[in-house]
Amino acid sequence: MDGNGRWAKKRLMPRSYGHRKGVETTRLAVDFFARAGVQHLTLFAFSSENWNRPAEEVNSLMDLFMQSLSDYTAELHEHQIRVRFIGDKSLFSAEFQRRIAATEEVTRDNPNMTLNIAVNYGGRWDIVNAARGLLRRVRDAELRPEEIDEAAFAGELSLAGSPDPDLFIRTGGERRISNFLLWQLAYTEFYFCDVLWPDLSESDMREALTEYTRRQRRFGKTGEQVELPE
Ligand code: IPE
Ligand code: MG
Repeated sequence: MDGNGRWAKKRLMPRSYGHRKGVETTRLAVDFFARAGVQHLTLFAFSSENWNRPAEEVNSLMDLFMQSLSDYTAELHEHQIRVRFIGDKSLFSAEFQRRIAATEEVTRDNPNMTLNIAVNYGGRWDIVNAARGLLRRVRDAELRPEEIDEAAFAGELSLAGSPDPDLFIRTGGERRISNFLLWQLAYTEFYFCDVLWPDLSESDMREALTEYTRRQRRFGKTGEQVELPE
């Protein structure tokens, strides 16, 4: 979800104004993708590198996360959406961690879409954290090093239990991953659009899904192998 700051700057407004508008787009996006039948949606809300922003912006983002959590948890639960937070939550305030845990607990058995919200998340952190988990299991003699395969590794990552993403969408015009789901994006289709996150409309989201249906996913095979019979 990129482009909040530039959206605000264009309007001569503080960046926090863009982030607030961005939350409205987020609400729209969750609703749209849930209605479209998407089973797993992962939003990159705050990266491990975002702490390096000016303190004022970091603080306003934390306040906004807390506020949004209070405002939307009931609504997400009503829509039977399961919410999970991925990332290193230990750096957040005790109150924020408590609310995250409460939201996860309340929504845990919801059958509709699983919404993963990445906060203080970094793809490299995720991989290192998984390695640490595997090593702990080896140390405790639950696992032998020879048993470590891709599935065992993926089982220690923060999206364990969710399939790898089919589609990655980045708004705001940059063409990079910025340390998002490095392991899980191995065969994901990438979609970049120039629209700033607060401006993203339903038709922009529909366009992303339509473009996805035009892609041929070969997973290393030839086009002929994966073509559907006429
Ligand atoms: C994305 O918008 C939101 C967060 C990282 C929280 P940005 O804040 O990165 O907006 P730009 O890229 O400066 O426009
Ligand atoms: Mg940005």
